[in-house]
Amino acid sequence: MTEWPRHGRIDGPIVMIGFGSIGKGTLPLIERHFEFDKSRFVVIDPDDSDRRLLDERGIKFIHQAITKENYREVLTKHLTAGGGQGFCVNLSVDTSSLAIMEHCREIGALYIDTVVEPWPGFYFDKNLGPETRSNYALRETVLEARRKKPGGPTAISCCGANPGMVSWFVKQALLNLAHDVGDKSAEPKTREEWGRLAQRLGVKGIHIAERDTQRAKQPKPRNCFVNTWSVEGFLSEGMQPAELGWGTHEKWTPSNAGFHKTGCGAAIYLNQPGANTRVRSWTPTALGQFGFLVTHNESISIADYFTLRDASGKATYRPTCHYAYHPCDDAVLSLHELFGRAGIVQPRHHILGEKEILDGIDELGVLLYGHQRGAYWYGSQLSVEETRDLAPYQNATGLQVTSAVLAGMVWALENPNAGIVEADEMDFRRCLEVQTPYLGPVIGVYTDWTPLKDRPGLFPEDIDASDPWQFRNVLVR
Ligand SMILES: NC(=O)c1ccc[n+]([C@@H]2O[C@H](COP(=O)([O-])OP(=O)(O)OC[C@H]3O[C@@H](n4cnc5c(N)ncnc54)[C@H](O)[C@@H]3O)[C@@H](O)[C@H]2O)c1
Repeated sequence: MTEWPRHGRIDGPIVMIGFGSIGKGTLPLIERHFEFDKSRFVVIDPDDSDRRLLDERGIKFIHQAITKENYREVLTKHLTAGGGQGFCVNLSVDTSSLAIMEHCREIGALYIDTVVEPWPGFYFDKNLGPETRSNYALRETVLEARRKKPGGPTAISCCGANPGMVSWFVKQALLNLAHDVGDKSAEPKTREEWGRLAQRLGVKGIHIAERDTQRAKQPKPRNCFVNTWSVEGFLSEGMQPAELGWGTHEKWTPSNAGFHKTGCGAAIYLNQPGANTRVRSWTPTALGQFGFLVTHNESISIADYFTLRDASGKATYRPTCHYAYHPCDDAVLSLHELFGRAGIVQPRHHILGEKEILDGIDELGVLLYGHQRGAYWYGSQLSVEETRDLAPYQNATGLQVTSAVLAGMVWALENPNAGIVEADEMDFRRCLEVQTPYLGPVIGVYTDWTPLKDRPGLFPEDIDASDPWQFRNVLVR
């Protein structure tokens, strides 16, 4: 039997908000890797479908939704009871990450989430324009909270697989690339030094390039949205505008692009839903593939992190950065069905549990492109079979997320006064050290693929032959 390391002791209560696919998968990792008082572990969720898992362990379950009206009272009660530093693990949908994070900091509790989630209503409010409904805007609210109250109890924003782990992969991939091209400079220590390394290596952009090949035993039923993680979460982000970190090498801009007038300025949005926006990308299994340019926090935070500026504040270097997501085939079919009905959501939703999956891997990595070696993919190829051996109650997609939550929790315990942080700012080595045992094969592969490979085909195309790595060539139009 594997001897799993204990990474630390949580000396106050643990409050997990949300017990869906990610909450369920995180539970056994917390049990395995931390010392804590089980009688002070509380899970809160308005849906009690899986409470059996908690009942059989003697973990307290509160069958309730966290709302704008009750979050202060409920969280204060459970996060401060009995002394020690409380730890809030927010794995829910429809709760405001910002409000909960700020409250946790006020009461001295540690906090972690995997997305900047708003209170319900935000994602589908037609009165809010695309700019307001963007992840850029959501992220800016977190950055503003940090500016107002720097330091203090650690609150980690967006620490799942992506956003989260992929930010650590980017740094490891840059170091691997530097090694392979003979760049002998010292490992970067600051944000600016990381930016300079990416610039020096000639990295024009980064795809978060994912291929989920997990296949269900049963074919997708009609009128049912099937996915390998939160359907609600995927629909919310998929109906937000497509968003991407906007690189300084880009010469062409889509005609429906919007620029933000305030904030970090690292990203643009397109006036179209991300889940209906296709891009050309590459993963080791797919070789070439269409991915969906679904908005994600890391597209903005990574682009922002690596931005270099001149004395006037003008960006002199920034990689383009966006998601290129090929979800499981059933989710692709689900999206096709959804957009065929102008975005009317299917009446039934289903998340594939590990026992319902025949086979497949979640191949999730970062594709660094435009440098002298062409493109370099670095990431995890975790299979559902290996996942079953590693940890219960989750599929491969889930374990990539929950093990990043675990890594983030360890980092927070080891750095309890770091204030509000994003994954880009954490110690990527320490986090990957904790997480890697759960990632299956982690590999790096070079490819000479570009988005212009075998193009144009039988028909004329609007391409920029002078630079294969222009977004003009990446976006499917
Ligand atoms: N960063 C990443 O890599 C990553 C990956 C997957 C999921 N996520 C995010 O993690 C979150 C959870 O994902 P999931 O797959 O477990 O989703 P899920 O839909 O399976 O579960 C969400 C849970 O939240 C609960 N919930 C809804 N409203 C609530 C409320 N008001 N208070 C408390 N709980 C409430 C639901 O009942 C459900 O059990 C989502 O926000 C998702 O976007 C992030």
